[in-house]
Amino acid sequence: MANKIELKWYEKKQGINLKKKISAEQKKQDADEKQRRKLEEKNNSEKQLKQKKEKIERIQKQQKKNFTAERISSLYDPTGIPRDAAAIIEKFDDIVSSTHPLNSKQRALLPQQISALSHNLTDQRGDRRMGYMNETTALSAYVHYFLWWNLVRLVKLFSNLDKSFFDFKDDCIFVDIGSGPLTVPIALLLARPELRKKNVTFYCIDISQQALSFGEDIFLSVAARLETTTWKIIRVKGTLDTSVKDKADLVTCANMLNELHDDADMPPDFLAKKNTDRLVSFVDSKNAKARILSIEPGDPRSARLVSLMRDAFIRKNFIPVAPCCHSETCPMDGKKGGKWCNFAFAVDNAPADLKRISEKANLAKERAVLSFVAVERGEQKEENPSFITMRIASDPIRLPGHRTGYYACSSKGLLLAVTNQKLFSGEKIKVPAPRKPMPKDTKSGALIIDL
Ligand SMILES: C[S@@+](CC[C@H](N)C(=O)[O-])C[C@H]1O[C@@H](n2cnc3c(N)ncnc32)[C@H](O)[C@@H]1O
Repeated sequence: MANKIELKWYEKKQGINLKKKISAEQKKQDADEKQRRKLEEKNNSEKQLKQKKEKIERIQKQQKKNFTAERISSLYDPTGIPRDAAAIIEKFDDIVSSTHPLNSKQRALLPQQISALSHNLTDQRGDRRMGYMNETTALSAYVHYFLWWNLVRLVKLFSNLDKSFFDFKDDCIFVDIGSGPLTVPIALLLARPELRKKNVTFYCIDISQQALSFGEDIFLSVAARLETTTWKIIRVKGTLDTSVKDKADLVTCANMLNELHDDADMPPDFLAKKNTDRLVSFVDSKNAKARILSIEPGDPRSARLVSLMRDAFIRKNFIPVAPCCHSETCPMDGKKGGKWCNFAFAVDNAPADLKRISEKANLAKERAVLSFVAVERGEQKEENPSFITMRIASDPIRLPGHRTGYYACSSKGLLLAVTNQKLFSGEKIKVPAPRKPMPKDTKSGALIIDL
């Protein structure tokens, strides 16, 4: 103890015990010391924390400075979707319920029917009848559920594809094959406001007349909400082999080709060539601006088919404009053991009612995925050798040394882009070409590029 403790005269008079006084005083001093140390420790740790934060900020700033990539575009930017389209998609069940209302019993059975159709379209496809869209319950499940999810996917994609891909003259012809309930025409009308005022004649081909007829009602209801009436829908009951009166400026085909090949025993490259020939047959051979868009579900088998069709389109003098940024060999062709090209986005912002139905049907999902190729007639422009353009085609991959990588597609082949910046599946970025040869990742064979 620093000072000697003695009893004051009045304390002696009060009969206070010196020992007790010393002990009380000691306790008080110990407590004060403890408090002081605690405060000092707190100040120190706050100081350390502040220093740590400042250091991280400094590093992040430096990393941003070092990140030389130019973000060109994204396939799934939610801000790219027109506001009126987003509002319609959010409450799309209102539209379907107005054109095809369900009574309470049908509504109660809907989740069960959705689940059954989902199995039919995926793991039990061997049992599916070709004309399943003519069955009332399957069609009802499709328009109340699958159409809605497909619109979520397609409107996001169509809104973010390059504007030039949808640059058509005022009077134009579109053909959609395997149109079902007109999913692609509805998605295009929603996603591309610049097309709403054009005089589009849209041939919609499907083997199910009933699906087309349901789809036309829904299309007209959407068009009325968007206050646009210029598109002429021509329903055609037919197959991929059917021909229509006019040659098309744009041919689309979504979620159908994978169904066609369920029981085909021909090799996939043969089927891909056949599909490509058929899709190309819908455009005028003299149309120098003809465009074709083929979209399939994001599974390995469909991705393989899409990649093979891309090759076949290139052989027919079309160039892939998305997602590919080049016409070289596809480095994500879905061959056994290799990477397959697909693009996923989180569905946190999907319509709440749609997510509720998904849960009821035991089909809750966290991500939406698709594989696609958009091609147009023309010649591939030469890439400036000082830069590499790449499409990010994976989720982040944890690498040794606390690093993160992303697989990306480029004219140099498959890349493993290593960066501390957060990138998203579907982003297109451009970086200065490295001066030294890029090392190879032993696991994937991808060329490693530091961003
Ligand atoms: C999964 S649905 C896709 C519908 C729509 N394209 C979409 O993305 O929501 C497949 C459609 O292809 C149609 N279909 C199946 N085989 C066909 C064929 N050979 N020719 C034309 N349509 C076909 C089915 O009737 C069905 O409407």
